Amino acid sequence: NSQSNQFCEAGIGYGEVGCGLSSSTKLLIKGGTVVNAHHQEVADVYVEDGIIVAVKPDLKVTDDVKVIDATGKFVMPGGIDPHTHLAMEFMGTETIDDFFSGQAAALAGGTTMHIDFVIPVNGSLIAGLESYEEKAKKSCMDYGFHMAITKFDDSVSRDMEIMVKEKGINSFKFFLAYKGSLMVNDELLLEGLKQCKSLGALAMVHAENGDAVFEGQKRMIQLGITGPEGHALSRPPLLEGEATARAIRLAGFVNTPLYVVHVMSIDAMEEIAKARKSGQRVVGEPVVSGLVLDDSGLWDSDFATASKFVMSPPIRAAGHNKVLQGALSNGVLQLVGTDHCVFNSTQKAFGIDDFRKIPNGVNGIEERMHLVWDTMVESGQISVNDFVRVTSTEWYALTVILCYARIFNIYPRKGAIITGSDADIIILNPNSSFEINAQSHHSRTDTNVYEGRRGKGKVEVTIAGGRVVWENNELKVVPGSGKYIEMPPFNYLFSGIDKADASYLSSLNAPVKRSKSTT
Ligand code: URP
Ligand code: ZN
Ligand code: ZN
Ligand code: ZN
Repeated sequence: NSQSNQFCEAGIGYGEVGCGLSSSTKLLIKGGTVVNAHHQEVADVYVEDGIIVAVKPDLKVTDDVKVIDATGKFVMPGGIDPHTHLAMEFMGTETIDDFFSGQAAALAGGTTMHIDFVIPVNGSLIAGLESYEEKAKKSCMDYGFHMAITKFDDSVSRDMEIMVKEKGINSFKFFLAYKGSLMVNDELLLEGLKQCKSLGALAMVHAENGDAVFEGQKRMIQLGITGPEGHALSRPPLLEGEATARAIRLAGFVNTPLYVVHVMSIDAMEEIAKARKSGQRVVGEPVVSGLVLDDSGLWDSDFATASKFVMSPPIRAAGHNKVLQGALSNGVLQLVGTDHCVFNSTQKAFGIDDFRKIPNGVNGIEERMHLVWDTMVESGQISVNDFVRVTSTEWYALTVILCYARIFNIYPRKGAIITGSDADIIILNPNSSFEINAQSHHSRTDTNVYEGRRGKGKVEVTIAGGRVVWENNELKVVPGSGKYIEMPPFNYLFSGIDKADASYLSSLNAPVKRSKSTT
């Protein structure tokens, strides 16, 4: 693997000594502008044993402390990617970034935590979790899990409860697409929404109408359109809008919060905007590919180039991206994921004669922070504080629980630079620039959907768990150093749901009495 030399010692000797990792557990970040989601100030940040101990101007320290000068730079919480697929078995193959290579790439791009989707094994949640726990043993940064629900019966219902109450999983994803594999029907979705509500877990949907997509694919094949462009043509924005609307209405019917993953189209965004305006609790997650790319690459005459853009829902025609950026800046959409799910060009070529066999997914875990900075902050669409909110803090708002004794379980443990938080920190130089290409990226894949892109703002230092893991364009990562972060149920979106249910019930009159003798 040509990339591995960028990690310390190419697969061996990752340990502290062999890698020459700083043994100092004390760090001082001097003179930067410390940015949180609601506040910023010029201050020093002092870290000891993985925890932020002080945030104050002009801190004095002893000689054994490693000092990093951040003058003129932004010191911000490490990014949190709420949507990744590392080592996922999908479409007859497995994503090529695993929990080590994907996380190493993330750290090089300023992301210090991610939340991955556990896929059940033959419908079993327990077996699925065990398999992901095994995959995640090589982690070099902190991570959490969502879980997909692909069938529903009493045992799945029971296991969902175990996941929430004992395993630290507080969100379940329902795929309304991928007919014949992951897709669920409305009956199953309703059962799932009810169980999520009773457990205080967040229901997530992949919103595309899978039956209609199946029909659209047949149409394309009949027309002789078998290339990557057929992927986009077979599943237009209309089908994303329909499924988003349906999921929102069913979540409204059950009265439980809903999180729509990878919002790729104006059609889906407008359904979310409408629901939020009416007071419904719906969260919309755009992904970087949808915010910055358009579908033109799918028409490239080179198959390897065109196929690398195949993901679901598809990257849309130019115009959707700009509108999604606007929705992110005005708060209709709340936090940015990547859906990092990479297959190399050999794997993509499984679909050389038939777009239906191209494994779906694009990269982004390493590029997200830079691209959101350049596209949203440099262009003046969001503030630096909002950058921290949409790339890091917002997820933690979603994990804060209502029981105040435990409210500090997660936030501000992560997503903030304040005394007591985990030392997951980045230093971003707004005057430096980045350039993206497959030669220098840290993912194992051999292509990059952002190939050749340059922009302003560069993550120069990443600190994960108090350890400097990215500095001077060099990664120093240790497999096994990442921790599993449990996420408690009943986030703020559940607040007041019981009252709303009670008031609805009391608004219903008792059954209308009618005499039987009306012939
Ligand atoms: O194309 C995609 N998005 N692949 C990953 C699976 C999913 O739907 O999130
Ligand atoms: Zn302050
Ligand atoms: Zn999806
Ligand atoms: Zn995904």
